[in-house]
Amino acid sequence: MKLEGLVAIITGAGRNIGEDTAMLFAAEGAKVAVVDMDQVAGDRVAAQISAAGGVACGFVANVAIEADVQQLIQNIVAKWGRVDILINNAAITDNKTILDISKEEWDKVLAVTLTGPFLVAKYAAIQMVAQGWGGKIVNVASTSGFFGRPRAIAYTAAKGGVVNLTRSMAVQLGPHNIRVNCVVPNKIGSPVGKQEFDPSRPVLNLRGRTGVPADMAKALLFLVSDDSDFVVGNALFVDGGTSVILPGGA
Ligand SMILES: NC(=O)c1ccc[n+]([C@@H]2O[C@H](COP(=O)([O-])OP(=O)(O)OC[C@H]3O[C@@H](n4cnc5c(N)ncnc54)[C@H](O)[C@@H]3O)[C@@H](O)[C@H]2O)c1
Repeated sequence: MKLEGLVAIITGAGRNIGEDTAMLFAAEGAKVAVVDMDQVAGDRVAAQISAAGGVACGFVANVAIEADVQQLIQNIVAKWGRVDILINNAAITDNKTILDISKEEWDKVLAVTLTGPFLVAKYAAIQMVAQGWGGKIVNVASTSGFFGRPRAIAYTAAKGGVVNLTRSMAVQLGPHNIRVNCVVPNKIGSPVGKQEFDPSRPVLNLRGRTGVPADMAKALLFLVSDDSDFVVGNALFVDGGTSVILPGGA
């Protein structure tokens, strides 16, 4: 088992990518904090892990609210005594353009999708530094953080921020033996913010199939395990090769 004895926090773990990651990390021996603002969803995943013989607990927190995040880290440390791994996975999106998004809609997406990862990383890292032995943090970015899209103006801006937040965190936390990376998914399972898989969602990649949450969970496991010890500040594209295809051909 690759994560024996370690405590892992996964935000937005109540379904989809976060859920599969929580299940895999628990199967690898981690005690998993299943964090979600949807208590029913988080508790369901934690119960599923317990039923499979793993160790997990649901924690309710809104990652955009600083007091929630501070309390969350305190509660996890009170329960398990340490924090070794953070997966910043919770995010929301918009479906707007620069012409029709309101300031309120922009603020909401930025608060959850960019400020959320900043806040959880900040308080988790303070704990990791205090412990003295380091840790691993992986931010879940998106191909939307690298490319322009016809819609999702706030989400694409926030995810671009997540990518460079990752790099600066890697530089600033590296001296504390905290290794920081991000993963870059594209069209995994259901669209962000939706529960249901949409079979009509167009997918163009080099694998000839839709990405599934388990694809992300396995990449995230690599980035938090010692197998990736020399991988730092990286943006690992887990997109079936979508991003190397030039629209319209070469
Ligand atoms: N699904 C995709 O195709 C895709 C593609 C690229 C990137 N991503 C990224 O992967 C991550 C997970 O995506 P997903 O599709 O599994 O998301 P999802 O919408 O299915 O699940 C997100 C979870 O986060 C929780 N959440 C939302 N706001 C929260 C908040 N403020 N505080 C705490 N919890 C909150 C929700 O309750 C939900 O359980 C996101 O960062 C997303 O941007 C996903």
